[in-house]
Amino acid sequence: MKTITLTQFLIEEQRAKSCVEPDLRLLLEVVARACKRISIAVGKGALGGVLGDAGTSNVQDEAQKKLDVLSNEILLQANAWGGHLAGLASEEMEQPSPIPDEYPKGGYLLLFDPLDGSSNIDVNVSVGTIFSVLRCPVGLSGSDEKAFLQAGTAQVAAGYAIYGPSTMLVLTVGCGTHAFTLDRELGSFVLTERDVKIPEDTQEYAINASNARHWEAPVQRYVAECVQGKQGPRGKDFNTRWVASMVADVHRIVTRGGVFMYPLDAKTAKQGGKLRLMYEANPMGFLVEQAGGAASTGRERIMDIVPGKLHQRVPVIMGSRNEVEKVVSYHR
Ligand code: AHG
Ligand code: MN
Ligand code: MN
Repeated sequence: MKTITLTQFLIEEQRAKSCVEPDLRLLLEVVARACKRISIAVGKGALGGVLGDAGTSNVQDEAQKKLDVLSNEILLQANAWGGHLAGLASEEMEQPSPIPDEYPKGGYLLLFDPLDGSSNIDVNVSVGTIFSVLRCPVGLSGSDEKAFLQAGTAQVAAGYAIYGPSTMLVLTVGCGTHAFTLDRELGSFVLTERDVKIPEDTQEYAINASNARHWEAPVQRYVAECVQGKQGPRGKDFNTRWVASMVADVHRIVTRGGVFMYPLDAKTAKQGGKLRLMYEANPMGFLVEQAGGAASTGRERIMDIVPGKLHQRVPVIMGSRNEVEKVVSYHR
């Protein structure tokens, strides 16, 4: 098999389809390099002294793990000096982080969930990094929250790294969704699937069923019908899968189809949902749509939402197109 590294892939995309500007290519390579560092830290586990709580909380009042903090620092450091960014925002930081004065500034904004699935770190289950790239609007500073408040349709790139049995990078620049696997000997991400396509139909769904009593009626109906299997209105049996790392659950769906749901429920209704729009739902929605799937809140397309604040939360229903449409139709 001919080996196509991430670098070669991006250069070819730039030449052939003008999907990637040179500055964006540099930015994506820097993010990929940071993900390799995070992958190394995650992989050391207890030997690296990286497991356990940091003893601090983030702006969302969630206890931070040591690896949440470390991954955030790795991404900040890696991206500060390159000259391609106007600013950065992260799940782990209340306010956007400006580019230090000693470095040149660029035209892009980078948003990330440095380590997704933190509850899985200490039990050696897959975790990941999610990121989204926007352009910094003319006249706004990259340290101003306002610059970041753009709908998901404005994303110029999005991706995630999954730290599982292998480390993978799944990426879109708006010309399809592509999967790379880290060759640990080479130290390079190598293209392992071009133009990933999510099957339109599925018999797998992912939801935390312990919240069932709190869900809204349309989601209760959808899941109840899946559970009835062959005997119910769907006429086929379904399987549940729930890793509790969005990256891992969505990666399974990108790989073989399925529907991922973190719907609105009575527990999270006040804050608008559980998952964060800007660095979880939007980038994952972009990747899923570019792979032929759909991403909705149940009431509207996720990427159409105009955000009101950086850490805004939304209900999420994404994956195989026909199944997402069914859940959306129940909301109507
Ligand atoms: P994070 O670790 O970045 O805070 O995200 C955790 C999220 C997401 O990855 C996952 O789908 C969900 O939380 C799991 O929630 P439950 O523990 O409620 O199942
Ligand atoms: Mn997360
Ligand atoms: Mn996180």
